[in-house]
Amino acid sequence: MKDVVVAGGTTGLGRAIALHYLRQGARVTVIGSTPARGEQFLSEAGEARARAGFIRADLLSVAENRRVIEEVQARHDSLDALVLTAMTPFLKRVETVDGFEGTFVLYYLSRYLLSHGLTDLLERGNDPIIVSLGATGFTKSGVQWDDLQLTRRYSPARAILQGGRANDLLGVGYLQDHPDGRTRFMLDHPGYTNSGTNRMPQPLRTGLNLLAKVFAKSPEENAKRIIAVMDDQPERRFIPWDRDKPVDPDLSSFDPDNARRLSGLTRTLLA
Ligand SMILES: NC(=O)c1ccc[n+]([C@@H]2O[C@H](COP(=O)([O-])OP(=O)(O)OC[C@H]3O[C@@H](n4cnc5c(N)ncnc54)[C@H](OP(=O)(O)O)[C@@H]3O)[C@@H](O)[C@H]2O)c1
Repeated sequence: MKDVVVAGGTTGLGRAIALHYLRQGARVTVIGSTPARGEQFLSEAGEARARAGFIRADLLSVAENRRVIEEVQARHDSLDALVLTAMTPFLKRVETVDGFEGTFVLYYLSRYLLSHGLTDLLERGNDPIIVSLGATGFTKSGVQWDDLQLTRRYSPARAILQGGRANDLLGVGYLQDHPDGRTRFMLDHPGYTNSGTNRMPQPLRTGLNLLAKVFAKSPEENAKRIIAVMDDQPERRFIPWDRDKPVDPDLSSFDPDNARRLSGLTRTLLA
């Protein structure tokens, strides 16, 4: 039986991936911060309810990420896939309980903690893979090395661009830190998806919902392309992917020196 964990699996792409594997017979645990969404996921599991789990946690907190790792370790003996999708946009700068900027945490730090913290379980899995969703293939902007927490100049776009680049470097840095492991790391750009979870204020929300209705695909449709790669993985361990095609692994956003630099800074931040 496959074991799958989806951080941010209660809605959107994460939910579509989680329900797919549940229906295929896997043991699946999803993580989200809203209890009602978790309950909804469990009720949608139907006959597979016994194999479905929901961990309520606020992944903005380092301690909560560490608790999630312990709960996943208690629930699974091994992991075949860890899918990292939790994200939410912050129009204004949000500082977490640990003093970090919110986007940096959801898009990067939480994913760093979960992927490194669950490595032992992954290494016991079959064709283990970490899949982190973001904006792979996009090279604009970068990590603000002199102001990682965006204290001086914050804008939602700046935070999301930095988060996306940090997520790209996470994939490279993870494999640098586990050179002899078996776990593959897929960085995926899922494409424009109508997840139905628009948390923007009005009138932006209505406008974005209309755009999504016209131009975006359903989570199920875009999740299919991710699942196809997860089920038929390329040989190499680093799998940068944009919708239905691989991304050049030599792009500037995967710079190995930057990846080492970010991993080092992260260890200092978490020490
Ligand atoms: N949708 C797109 O068009 C698109 C395009 C490119 C890339 N992506 C990337 O794909 C991923 C998934 O996107 P999506 O549209 O499917 O997202 P979504 O539907 O908004 O799902 C986000 C998930 O993250 C969880 N989450 C948010 N904040 C959390 C927190 N503090 N603690 C724990 N869980 C939290 C949400 O549950 P709760 O709210 O209950 O916590 C939900 O399960 C994201 O990383 C996004 O950047 C999406």
